[in-house]
Amino acid sequence: MVSITKLLNFALPPLSLILLCILTLPLLLWKQIMNVKKLVYTENVANKVVLITGAASGIGQQLAYEYARRGAKLSLVDIRKEKLVTVADEARSLGSPDVTIIGADVSKVQDCKQFVEETVNYFGQLDHLVNNAGIGKPAAVEDMGDVSKYTPVMGTNFWGAVYGSLYAIPHLKISKGKIIVVASACGWFPLPRISIYNASKAAVINFFETLRMEVGSAIGITIVTPGFMKTDLTSRAMEYEAILSKIPMASASKCATAIVDGACRGDKYVADPLWVRALFPWRVLYPELADWAIRFIDELYQNSHHKVK
Ligand code: NAI
Repeated sequence: MVSITKLLNFALPPLSLILLCILTLPLLLWKQIMNVKKLVYTENVANKVVLITGAASGIGQQLAYEYARRGAKLSLVDIRKEKLVTVADEARSLGSPDVTIIGADVSKVQDCKQFVEETVNYFGQLDHLVNNAGIGKPAAVEDMGDVSKYTPVMGTNFWGAVYGSLYAIPHLKISKGKIIVVASACGWFPLPRISIYNASKAAVINFFETLRMEVGSAIGITIVTPGFMKTDLTSRAMEYEAILSKIPMASASKCATAIVDGACRGDKYVADPLWVRALFPWRVLYPELADWAIRFIDELYQNSHHKVK
């Protein structure tokens, strides 16, 4: 047994490097061919039933409008039910044939069971589940203090996506439907002072990668990794105001269009804006360099921030 491990340690790293070099071009070509195929077949969501969590503002609100323009029936879920009323009105005026709103906290398993059941009872089916609700709570690890203040981040971002999906899976299998999960570029490429947020998004990505392996083609799964967007979530991170004002912020509405386009094409991943994708290979291939670059930028920011103070 020991000798097999020794052999693998010795032979596998160079072998996989050689394979990577040989296969990269043909695999990229294969991907492009598949992309052309996807352009021909794109799902028409008119009259299909789409459940969106965190639909009261930001990306979720824009997702509701995007699906509405395509004629989908909507079940809009948010912890702030009162805010959903105007979103639902706007969605109807944009073309959604029917919209229902549900107040629920996605971090509570009973609420998730209830909003999936309510949606299926009301519309008779479920075609897309969009796990979008999320929160952030920035702080450097050493400044976190009472760590229990941060458990809602994991509760909402990770468990909030898992609970709803578990109850939706049987209905999505019947409709050959899809799960769309709004993770974050930080799930692949973590940034300083949002450690629990980074961890929650990495957990979400890994959970849905695993689910995809288990369900195969029975349910389509699209993992979304947005970069920074101008929404309530980023404007609440006041301690980051100075650095956020220097980062190119993308628009939530363009992001929503990219998400729905990607989900309808059956894409496994959607990154928006597209440039965030360029960061991911650095993290995998040269993590030391990625860490150094982020630390360098972060220290520059810290120094300029302290000078301003
Ligand atoms: P947002 O704050 O505008 O929207 C989040 C929505 O989720 C709100 O309407 C809020 O009421 C709802 N919500 C929060 N906790 C909830 C709970 N426990 N149960 C039910 N609803 C709850 O923020 P944004 O930016 O639109 O965020 C949407 C998703 O996009 C989140 O998962 C976020 O992590 C992700 N994201 C956002 C980025 C950004 O730069 N804004 C970047 C990458 C990912």
